[in-house]
Amino acid sequence: MTVPPVDRAALVATRRDLHQHPELGFEERRTGALVAERLQQLGYTVRTGVGKTGVLAQRDGAPKGASRCVLVRADMDALPVEEANEVPYRSRQPGRMHACGHDGHVAIGLEVARRLHAADLPGSLKLAFQPAEEISYGAEAMIRDGVLERPKVDAAFGLHLWNDLPTGTIGIMPGAVMASVDEFEIAIVGRGGHAAAPHQTIDPVLVAAHVVTGLQSLVSRRRNPFEEAVVSVTQLNAGHAFNVIPGRAELRGTVRTFGGKFFEQAPQLVEETALGIAAAFGATAEVRYRRLTAPLVNDQRMTALMRGVAQDIVGQERVIDGIRTMGGEDMSFFLAKVPGTFASPPWVDFAF
Ligand code: NI
Repeated sequence: MTVPPVDRAALVATRRDLHQHPELGFEERRTGALVAERLQQLGYTVRTGVGKTGVLAQRDGAPKGASRCVLVRADMDALPVEEANEVPYRSRQPGRMHACGHDGHVAIGLEVARRLHAADLPGSLKLAFQPAEEISYGAEAMIRDGVLERPKVDAAFGLHLWNDLPTGTIGIMPGAVMASVDEFEIAIVGRGGHAAAPHQTIDPVLVAAHVVTGLQSLVSRRRNPFEEAVVSVTQLNAGHAFNVIPGRAELRGTVRTFGGKFFEQAPQLVEETALGIAAAFGATAEVRYRRLTAPLVNDQRMTALMRGVAQDIVGQERVIDGIRTMGGEDMSFFLAKVPGTFASPPWVDFAF
């Protein structure tokens, strides 16, 4: 199979254009239109509005005996972040930024589309430009809209740009490489009153402080130390005056794992901790626990295949093992349904 060389100038230009026009999850209208137009120009069969704002391109294999189908996935959404970089291609949208590199993923996806369309492929190819990865709903939405069917997808591949790796390398490894992402919200309901008379109140701020400590103790005392896990409390809101004990405190946070017993038990442990500590102080707690994404697990065979290809391109010593993160990715939804792999090339290699 021969493929045309990388058009580096076009790659950088596309990425910078997208960088200037970041769009949040399920709002990727300009991005989706740009992607659809480019793919149509290349000659792909294009479906828009797949998983709300996603785009699916398809190229069928040779008419005879081409039964296999490979999916390449790139996510498109940006983050609600104000860009502080002073670069000519800085974000033009206040409070929006491609801070996670999905602009790079789209540019790379379009370049892959261009190169593979010119190649003589023995099977079918689908390219999924996915919305709303950052809020963990985009992959599921595309799957619900039939991305993995007609023709049935046999393997799926994707990547995420990765800052920590040196230029010219690529991180690929089998097994769980990105974590499960759970979200919890806890409301502590006490009784407000004057700060000078705490005995007449049930202070939810103090309860919340104990709950934070209790949640951190889950990792140190309820988890098998051989199972990776993170619990982070990231929001804590209560009160509005220095001399008033409020009636309510609210916490939010996240649990990350690579699966295992702690993953299974986490919802119950978080709830028990919050309810138990609140009860000990005479307060009550309300807990809402949501699973967002499962751990992202790379298939052994498909990883070996992609690793071999990467070694041919960058050299054996530049393909790096052991790149894992407690960050999450909703590519895990695709990889839970079909074998595939998710790789990490360095951001700087792209020379934005
Ligand atoms: Ni990302």
